[in-house]
Amino acid sequence: MKIPSHAVQVRLLYVSRSNGPQTTTVTSSILMQAQAHNRAQGITGVLCQGQGYFLQVLEGERSRVNALYQRICGDARHKDVELLRYEDISERLYDPWSMALVRLSAQDPMVKVGHPEFDPYAASGDQVMHLLSALIASSQVIQAPTP
Ligand SMILES: Cc1cc2nc3c(=O)[nH]c(=O)nc-3n(C[C@H](O)[C@H](O)[C@H](O)COP(=O)(O)O)c2cc1C
Repeated sequence: MKIPSHAVQVRLLYVSRSNGPQTTTVTSSILMQAQAHNRAQGITGVLCQGQGYFLQVLEGERSRVNALYQRICGDARHKDVELLRYEDISERLYDPWSMALVRLSAQDPMVKVGHPEFDPYAASGDQVMHLLSALIASSQVIQAPTP
C-alpha cells in the first residue's frame, strides 16, 4: 500500500557548536527566522543554547524537516552539526511551539549535578532528549511563542 509521504512525521535532534559568542542578537535573529518559517511549514520544536552549544529538536513532515535540517547544516553561525536522533513519530512533543528557546546554563543544577562533564557529543540521543525535557520542566524556557 502506498503511504503518502506527506503524512509521515519525524522528530530530529542534533547538536552543534556555535561559531561565535551566543549573544542575544544572534539568538534573536535565529529565533525570528525559525518562528516565521517553521510556522508556515508546520514545523515545531525546541532550540536550546548555552555553553557554546546548540541543541535543537525539529518535528514535522519528514520532507520539510529534512529540507530545513539541510539548510541549518549550511548555516555559518554554527559548526560540527551532528545528528543525534531521527525517528518516525505519531505524536509531537512540542506541539504549541513553532520554536521555543531553552537556556542551557553551566549553573543549572540539572547540568551540573546530573551531568558534571556534560558533553552532548558524547551523550546518547536519549540522554539529550531527557535533559531537554528536564530543562523545560524546570522552567528554563525563556521564550515560548504563543500558538
Ligand atoms: C542553531 C540554528 C538553528 C536554526 N533553526 C532554524 C529553524 O528552526 N527554522 C528556520 O527556518 N531556520 C533556522 N535557522 C536558520 C537557518 O539556518 C537559515 O539561516 C534560515 O532558515 C534562512 O534560510 P534562507 O536564507 O535560505 O531562507 C537556524 C540556524 C541556526 C544556526
